[in-house]
Amino acid sequence: MASVPSLAASVNQRVADALSAALPEAGAADPLLRRSDRADFQANGMLALAKKLKGNPRELATQVVERITAPELIKDIEVSGPGFLNITVTDTALVQTLAARAADDRLGVPLKDEPGVTIIDYAQPNVAKEMHVGHLRSAVIGDALRHLLDFTGEKTIGRHHIGDWGTQFGMLIQYLIEHPGELAPADEVDGEQAMSNLNRVYKASRAVFDADEEFKERARKRVVALQSGDKETLDLWQRFVDESKVYFYSVFEKLDMEIRDDEIVGESAYNDMMAETARLLEESGVAVRSEGALVVFFDDIKGKDDQPVPLIVQKADGGFGYAASDLSAIRNRVFDLHATTLLYVVDVRQSLHFKMVFETARRAGWLGDEVTAHNMGYGTVLGADGKPFKTREGETVRLEDLLDEAAQRAAEVVREKAQDLTEEEIQERGAQVGIGAVKYADLSTSANRDYKFDLDQMVSLNGDTSVYIQYAHARIKSILRKAGDAQPAAHAELELAPAERALGLHLDQFGETVADAAAEYAPHKLTAYLYQLASLYTTFYDQCPVLKAETPAQVENRLFLCDITARTLHKGMSLLGIRTPERL
Ligand code: ARG
Repeated sequence: MASVPSLAASVNQRVADALSAALPEAGAADPLLRRSDRADFQANGMLALAKKLKGNPRELATQVVERITAPELIKDIEVSGPGFLNITVTDTALVQTLAARAADDRLGVPLKDEPGVTIIDYAQPNVAKEMHVGHLRSAVIGDALRHLLDFTGEKTIGRHHIGDWGTQFGMLIQYLIEHPGELAPADEVDGEQAMSNLNRVYKASRAVFDADEEFKERARKRVVALQSGDKETLDLWQRFVDESKVYFYSVFEKLDMEIRDDEIVGESAYNDMMAETARLLEESGVAVRSEGALVVFFDDIKGKDDQPVPLIVQKADGGFGYAASDLSAIRNRVFDLHATTLLYVVDVRQSLHFKMVFETARRAGWLGDEVTAHNMGYGTVLGADGKPFKTREGETVRLEDLLDEAAQRAAEVVREKAQDLTEEEIQERGAQVGIGAVKYADLSTSANRDYKFDLDQMVSLNGDTSVYIQYAHARIKSILRKAGDAQPAAHAELELAPAERALGLHLDQFGETVADAAAEYAPHKLTAYLYQLASLYTTFYDQCPVLKAETPAQVENRLFLCDITARTLHKGMSLLGIRTPERL
């Protein structure tokens, strides 16, 4: 494993050194290097610096140029405009850098210097309830962030904070006691049956609950039994959890996502901590009694009529709810799991809840300066018409139906293009392409924005879609298969065509893109990078014959560019949780 500095980093270093030699009083000034269409890079840091020190930017830029001698790296450097530097790197440096990346399993991407422990709270559906498109976003974004962070060397621990606790379980369990045959054992059902059983029991128990006062009272008592740990009650509760997990896993599998059982740690897991959490908050004065409930107030959080909106730690009847489980989870994650970052991938509509929970934990001293807590609140999924996603009948759309439809549409696209695929292969690839398309569309919108769920657009072969990227990848793979005896090999002595240079320079930015996307929790930066990579490859492919290149060395060098492009696309997509099939 050898990390490879990017050309941008090497050039930036040379310019920074020259800059501080030319202007020692500037200290470690940033040359502000970026890609440019005038040359490979442009540095415009001289402008602001000269202004600040009351100098002439063009003069400063000229002095910097005079101090740079790096013929092996820099082919051309010139002052332009009011004091920019336009910089072109040598073809040799470009090919050598890419060759060093190609020789490394991690494509030369470094691990970060001081990795921490990030606990990612994501993919948290609710027991006995259908998963909806909102749960899709949490799962997809959380999974991608996790891959990204892992790749940077961060230690990640997943937490699926499923809704498996609360008063509704009194009703469900009581119903099951009175109608014992209604829930088939979890090991006898598949995901679909599990959900349909749960739905049936949920609806039936709700109906009795609403109609029958005596049942309601028995259900209420059942909640108390559950919370006090009554064995029979807990066993029945467990059956709902197990049945739900069968369903969850079937959906996660469809999503092509690995979820570990030991990381499914729902609200109930913190039950034993809740009383202590409440006691600590009350004793420290962070929480106060108000109308019998234990609550926390905030100066800046007010509701209607300017009334303060408190966070409820314990209800007047003694029960603990959502906030108490989240506060207890923070104690567990910080003190037992030694988290340095708490990341929550939860609907933006819960951002007030998290604001209050984090502030409470800070006041209690559970969250100090060493721990960052962040809710990556994501926006709503909208239908193609721009309204919140609903069926024609106005019901919430079942996640599974959506995924099935995506796979089906994608299979049609694959079938149209397929030349030599069997029906089974078409279905299999359809699933990979369809689920990939759903994930990509979600990830390519910055998470805090709403996004439109538009299957036609998602599985389109043109435009910013995963399908476009997957096809670019598969096309490269097919060229590599057709190459026969010719092998990919870097030839640093060759002169590069413009499309080769553009492709190569972009390939070299992979590590920086991944680091940014991970640090900013912004998978859309990676999707944008990959889309551009696929586009640059398409241009290269149109302009530069690979197998019919002019010389054997050029064939090898172009195969080399093909190969590293394929590997970069594959790696990048895998960090997003999306497959890149070898053939499409
Ligand atoms: N189960 C919740 C829901 O469906 C999301 C849980 C989010 N995580 C948390 N730690 N509160 O809305």
